[in-house]
Amino acid sequence: MRVLVLNGPNLGRLGRRQPEIYGTTTSAELAELCVGWGRDVGLEVEVRQTNHEGELLDWLNAAADDATPVVLNAAAWTHYSWAIYDACAQLTAPLVEVHLSDPRQRPEEFRHTSVVTPYAVEVIAGLGVDGYRRALEVLARG
Ligand code: DQA
Repeated sequence: MRVLVLNGPNLGRLGRRQPEIYGTTTSAELAELCVGWGRDVGLEVEVRQTNHEGELLDWLNAAADDATPVVLNAAAWTHYSWAIYDACAQLTAPLVEVHLSDPRQRPEEFRHTSVVTPYAVEVIAGLGVDGYRRALEVLARG
């Protein structure tokens, strides 16, 4: 089964971006880890990252058309993008929401809501990069 791991804005700077919050694993390392974790559980994983909301929308729309399961870390868009909410609503295969940190435990109010959660079969937050492994396991279990 093919699975898309989609990462939103600023996640391309993982490893350098606020490592005390997001850890020291780089975006390229995370992508490699996801491919390996996927292989371990029989999934063909493709990892993408974008700082452009329209690009993420196009990927989600294509995933809806192909019934591709998605692991989504929409980063800051999680908290306010109604366009991403509408795109998630159209998905036809399971969606798992992932965050490296736990936005609900963070001090900024704006992080306490998610437009993705209503359409996610599971939300995995606060486990760092290991959250992606867990998300792939959820999808592999079906
Ligand atoms: C994040 C949490 C978001 O609040 C933040 O805007 C991010 C990353 C996470 O993975 O912890 O960019 O999604």
